[in-house]
Amino acid sequence: MVIKKAYGCNIQDVDGNVFIDTTMACGAQIIGHNNRLIRKIGKQIKNGTVYTVPNAHTRDVNLCLKKHINPDLHSEYIFCNTGTEANIRAIRLARAYTGKSKIAMFHGGWHGGIDGLINSKGVPLTTSELIKVLPYNDEDCLNEITPDLAAIIIEPVQGSNPRSDVGPFLQKLQKQCSDKGVLLILDEVMTGFRLSARGGAGLFNIKPDIVTYGKILGGGFPIGAVGGKTKIMETKDVFYGGTFSGNPLTMYAAKLILDTIINKKYIQYKYLDSLGEVFRNKLNSIFQDQKIPMQVMGCGPVNKIVFTEKFIKNKKDKDKLEQQNQEYFYDRLRLNGVLVNTNRIIQLSMSHTTKTVDKIINAAYLAVKG
Ligand SMILES: Cc1ncc(COP(=O)(O)O)c(C=O)c1O
Repeated sequence: MVIKKAYGCNIQDVDGNVFIDTTMACGAQIIGHNNRLIRKIGKQIKNGTVYTVPNAHTRDVNLCLKKHINPDLHSEYIFCNTGTEANIRAIRLARAYTGKSKIAMFHGGWHGGIDGLINSKGVPLTTSELIKVLPYNDEDCLNEITPDLAAIIIEPVQGSNPRSDVGPFLQKLQKQCSDKGVLLILDEVMTGFRLSARGGAGLFNIKPDIVTYGKILGGGFPIGAVGGKTKIMETKDVFYGGTFSGNPLTMYAAKLILDTIINKKYIQYKYLDSLGEVFRNKLNSIFQDQKIPMQVMGCGPVNKIVFTEKFIKNKKDKDKLEQQNQEYFYDRLRLNGVLVNTNRIIQLSMSHTTKTVDKIINAAYLAVKG
């Protein structure tokens, strides 16, 4: 599929087919495509798009993050161009600060295509040996948190099994990290500015040592950001630079979207939460009434359809219990006018309405029946 244009929650391919977009740029477009904010960016284009010398917007974004999002963290963030880059920098910072090399991540977690954190050909064994994989949403992992770890990186809500019942698990993890002298890196690339203005940290009351952002913070432009406690951010001699890092176009867009979030202009988290709930409640009722062995799970506007009716507590359960004829379902869904990305995460945005949600539900029902 090749896309020609996108507007609101609609996406059109080069052949003129229009779909309801449930991908929304992997969650980056929380307001909607071609939104009012994007149209303001022209003002900065006239002043130049990249200088590779610090610009005034960066200072404003830093001030805003400090004042409204993370008052407990240092006032200067590290900016880069993607969530992947932000996590690479966060891990480097954690290693530099602690003087340790080992990192732990969770099964089912996604932090970008980082050597050692992904299963892929071409990844040298030496990088994988520095990574420990822990069971997610499972208290057994707490015993595996050992002082030889520099940090644990975790998404507060995993895209692979988005759920809202992980608060107590995250709280225990935070305590164990603090007891064992292991830094907690909260990867809020997907959840930041999506689950709440303060992301998953705000929703579950988590105070990470280091936090990473991406997606929504860029206001439609490529971004990554790393923040952390002052003593950690002040670690000397850690390399972060890059030609397009903190470029004025992205930083201007970040400033606009933060202003929108803080002043509740085009983004209302109550609306996004209730839309997600309506979607899950209605579709789950249909699955139950029709005795279809499926469910939809999620947290706020982040959802995933699961191909078993049984309770799953993490991706490991999901992989074990799911039926495997999913491609057929998603092909049918697309034929019924709904586009779901290959990561299968259904991201609702401010441009989706209850009517759009009904259309998605109807398309899903027809796809199941098909
Ligand atoms: C939780 C999480 N971390 C990191 C990334 C990587 O971000 P990017 O694709 O901007 O490199 C993603 C992207 O999907 C993500 O969801």
